[in-house]
Amino acid sequence: MLYRLLLKVLTSSSNGSIYKYAPLVNYFFCKLCRFSPRKLPLPLFPKPLMGLSFANPVGLAAGFDRNGKLLPYSEMIGCGFIEIGTINVDATKESDNEVMTAIQNLNKAAKYDQSSNRQQRWGINLGSLRNTLDEQTAADYNKGMDLFWHHADYLVINLSRPESDARSLDPDMNSLDTFLTNIKYHHSTLTSYHGHVPMVAKIAVDHVHNEHIIAILLLLRDHGFDGVILAFENWPDMKPMSEYLCRLKTETDCFPLIVVGGIRSTEDIQQLMAAGASLVQIYTSLAQQGPLQTRKMISRLE
Ligand SMILES: Cc1cc2nc3c(=O)[nH]c(=O)nc-3n(C[C@H](O)[C@H](O)[C@H](O)COP(=O)(O)O)c2cc1C
Repeated sequence: MLYRLLLKVLTSSSNGSIYKYAPLVNYFFCKLCRFSPRKLPLPLFPKPLMGLSFANPVGLAAGFDRNGKLLPYSEMIGCGFIEIGTINVDATKESDNEVMTAIQNLNKAAKYDQSSNRQQRWGINLGSLRNTLDEQTAADYNKGMDLFWHHADYLVINLSRPESDARSLDPDMNSLDTFLTNIKYHHSTLTSYHGHVPMVAKIAVDHVHNEHIIAILLLLRDHGFDGVILAFENWPDMKPMSEYLCRLKTETDCFPLIVVGGIRSTEDIQQLMAAGASLVQIYTSLAQQGPLQTRKMISRLE
């Protein structure tokens, strides 16, 4: 109630969107709750996936906490995992403020967490501002992996950027194949030195133009990606989304599918999990409802 009131005051006084203020208001709410005498535990419905144990199957999607500022307080929201980023990396740059800030926040969050046994998983969503699927773009992602390998429970190669060639209606599968080979080779090299960190790709699934999605999923699976985040965009409601998801699950032979887009209630989560989602993520629903309502939505999964 207080959350929504505060957000309303902020957005109407400045004519801004909730997306602009929600991360800030959530940050202050979660930080304040830290001083509450009653510590709210993370809702536990453990979900094993990609060799990790997720406290529950509902995560916070990328974009909300772009640089990891919320991480020390993020258990308040009740999500089983938080995905920070997108952190755009430019392999040609020596130093980068966006990267430095994220690393500082991750170090701070890890220190804050030292005494306890962290149950919430942290993902890092990596991006490149280049749109082409070529060696230079792959080098950006590979540098991102180098920088964040030791900070992440899992890594995301974000191919859902609207301008990316990966989102073309008719993507060049040969370029995509070479690009993924390059990235997977680097991932395997890092794995051999430092141990495995699961890697997934995030791709957009538009309601109208999605004929090529199955081919992309099969390519990711064959390249040894640990799973994929499907960002459903412009879908009218949960029913067609669940039906399509069910088809993808079958045609990709149970490749781990993490679903984001349009999830607003416990029932939506249950429906998508029943249709084959291994995990789900939310964004707008947290922005609209705030941390306490979100926590309630997740707790009701019981
Ligand atoms: C303001 C805003 C910023 C976003 N920024 C990112 C981003 O940086 N990286 C990314 O992968 N997705 C980003 N997204 C997409 C979300 O992660 C998610 O896929 C999308 O909002 C659909 O989920 P929802 O219906 O629960 O909001 C952003 C979304 C919004 C609304």
